[in-house]
Amino acid sequence: MADDPHKLFETWFAEAAAAEPNDHDAMALATADPLGRPSARMVLLKGHDPRGFVFYTHRDSRKGGELEANPVAALLFHWKSLRRQIRIEGSVEPVSEAEADAYFATRSRDSRLGAWASDQSRPLASRAAFEARYEDMRARFEGGDVPRPPRWSGYRLLPDRIEFWTDRPHRLHERRLFVRDGEHWDEGLLYP
Ligand SMILES: Cc1cc2nc3c(=O)[nH]c(=O)nc-3n(C[C@H](O)[C@H](O)[C@H](O)COP(=O)(O)O)c2cc1C
Repeated sequence: MADDPHKLFETWFAEAAAAEPNDHDAMALATADPLGRPSARMVLLKGHDPRGFVFYTHRDSRKGGELEANPVAALLFHWKSLRRQIRIEGSVEPVSEAEADAYFATRSRDSRLGAWASDQSRPLASRAAFEARYEDMRARFEGGDVPRPPRWSGYRLLPDRIEFWTDRPHRLHERRLFVRDGEHWDEGLLYP
């Protein structure tokens, strides 16, 4: 059996990229507020290596506030056409400013303007108000670079538990669980 869940993740992620019609990199992100009330939403996986799993968002969003107060989270991939699920849990830390700048620079100019225009998770009076803010940002950065908004950045989830779930006939599904033990991973199975 593999003793490295990251390698297994890479294999499954590549297979999902080939099989899924769209957004194979979309994952549910679950966070919780200081009272333990959970919330979940989809985000895109923008980086992964043995250190962890990276996504980008507004630090002042609902998820950002919850992660600041309670820096642990869960990620969930479900690839329907492959009938596979991966569950990932661990602590969360902000990526470096340099890493966030490098990723932001890969986004289209319109997406970069959108990051400035969106006050993510805050009430919005009308769609027109949002479009007006977008046009304001377009004018503000006309003819120049669109830098990363200071509070738009990324987080890395440092996994301490990763489970690979595979559909099997008669609901006799397979669950392979990896639990971090220092620098090593212990592997076991779970009843489905
Ligand atoms: C497929 C998909 C991918 C998404 N990717 C991101 C993302 O990478 N970052 C992000 O901030 N929001 C992303 N969103 C929007 C979030 O689901 C959510 O609406 C937004 O981040 C606000 O969440 P919050 O109010 O809980 O902070 C995505 C939505 C979908 C459906």
